[in-house]
Amino acid sequence: MPHIPVLMNAVCARAQFHAENPVVVDATLGGAGHAAALVERMPPGGVFIGIDRDPEALIRGRERLAGARCAVYLHHGEFSELPEVLDRRGVSEIDFLLADLGVSSFQLDEADRGFSFSADGPLDMRMNPEAGETLLEKLSSIEYADLASILRRFGEEPAAGPIARSILRALEQDQLHTTADLAAAVTRVVPSFTRNLHPATKTFQALRIWVNGELEEVEALLAAVPELLTPGGRMLVISFHSLEDRLAKQAFAKLCHPERDIPSWVPLTRDQMPKSRFWTEGPIGPDADELEANPRSRSAKLRVLWTLEDAT
Ligand SMILES: C[S@@+](CC[C@H](N)C(=O)[O-])C[C@H]1O[C@@H](n2cnc3c(N)ncnc32)[C@H](O)[C@@H]1O
Repeated sequence: MPHIPVLMNAVCARAQFHAENPVVVDATLGGAGHAAALVERMPPGGVFIGIDRDPEALIRGRERLAGARCAVYLHHGEFSELPEVLDRRGVSEIDFLLADLGVSSFQLDEADRGFSFSADGPLDMRMNPEAGETLLEKLSSIEYADLASILRRFGEEPAAGPIARSILRALEQDQLHTTADLAAAVTRVVPSFTRNLHPATKTFQALRIWVNGELEEVEALLAAVPELLTPGGRMLVISFHSLEDRLAKQAFAKLCHPERDIPSWVPLTRDQMPKSRFWTEGPIGPDADELEANPRSRSAKLRVLWTLEDAT
């Protein structure tokens, strides 16, 4: 199934570039659907930088952006490397950055990548198959308490303890080789669906986040980008679960409401109020038409961080 980019209208509405030579970053190139729409809106003097840790996304991106009028640079690696990527290009500021977090449909649909319980595949789950340990390698050296804590923290899984025990038992008994084996280890202890959700959904989410260090990556991006934005610049983050959305929400709120250095019980005059060069929008979700056309968009939430045009 082709990857249908989510919240396309909301993203495009915020992709008006006033700078003569805007620098636009897509930190999660994927199938390059958003990237193609962004590049179309850029003048010939603009610079587009696309990043993805999955080499397949770079192949798709290169094909899809071949006719671009502006300069296009694609980088294979993590978006936490953004400051170094910009340095290498001699870029010090950016006008627009999009991070559409999570996995692409092409990653989920390829059984070999090991992301999905609906298509049986190896226990891999790496977004970059050229680096790091596979899920099976990581599970082989983990203790019960750590695995239970990963399922609880990254999957918000209420049955984290019994599931962790069942996974480790399957591993010990040499019955854990594929994503179907992993799903079976979960359904042995949590057999029934909740609100139409397969019992292994939260476990798969948690393990994917762990294998790819996803939350650390998002934290690094949220820490680096605001300082790099030009006046009027913006950072758009699309997330698909509450853990990522919370990170963006809290980071943006902190930037928009800087802490006062005067004790909270002292009333402040207008001039003493801490000022911010940022404002934020969101969460923005899909409308009824998008929900109907692309049910996968139902949990998508967009948050936007803007810098003021005249911030000095
Ligand atoms: C939801 S998809 C993006 C889809 C894209 N917006 C489109 O229109 O097709 C997310 C992509 O981000 C990539 N990705 C996730 N985390 C990343 C990270 N930390 N660094 C670089 N790429 C990442 C994944 O490999 C995946 O291809």
